[in-house]
Amino acid sequence: MRAGPELESLPFVSKLRVGVLVSHNGSNLRALHRAASQPEAPFEVVAVISNNSGSPGLAYARENRIATRHLSGRTHPDPEQLDSAICATFVGHSVELIVTAGYMKKLGPRTREQFAPRILNIHPALLPRFGGPGMHGNHVHQAVLDSGDSVSGPSVHIVEDEYDTGEVIAQLEVPVLADDTVDTLAARVLTAEHTLLPLVVQQIATRQMSVGQRRL
Ligand code: GRF
Repeated sequence: MRAGPELESLPFVSKLRVGVLVSHNGSNLRALHRAASQPEAPFEVVAVISNNSGSPGLAYARENRIATRHLSGRTHPDPEQLDSAICATFVGHSVELIVTAGYMKKLGPRTREQFAPRILNIHPALLPRFGGPGMHGNHVHQAVLDSGDSVSGPSVHIVEDEYDTGEVIAQLEVPVLADDTVDTLAARVLTAEHTLLPLVVQQIATRQMSVGQRRL
């Protein structure tokens, strides 16, 4: 049921349930979980899925007693079944918002249809300029350095069918310094990601920000 205006002005009564997909390190997952662990946090991380059984992000989630699943082409060779398993896992945990945080795979149509537009991705550069196929990891930061731009920074956007095409809902600028390397720029952007992502999820949870046409 959608709350009327009088209810929307009330403080939240239940925490927004967030599901996260990771592939490797999971530092954004840790930033989200840290924010969710603060007293009065308006959201909680209730399920973590990884396509990589050895992902440090998955290990972190297990250690912190978050429900986890390894779901990949190894566990589900049929892409449709994999998509269904991902969707069913998040539905089973009553997830209201999905965050792909360093998830190196595309989500399948079933998951997208079930949750759209409530699927966010964090990208390590300013979209739409530095996005699209191949624009991941160090390639993105190299492209920014090659462009000669004096600013970079993470973007949070809604996930659509194609890579990095969905509506950008938040960005945080950081400077590109004259002596930056890919590594120094990547580290500065990642630090900004850890500020931006929890802030966006918090604002969605407290209804200061809406996702797509629907309010959560
Ligand atoms: C981040 O830079 C994110 O923007 C990109 O992948 C990286 C994931 O880092 N999509 P981590 O796994 O959260 O540490």
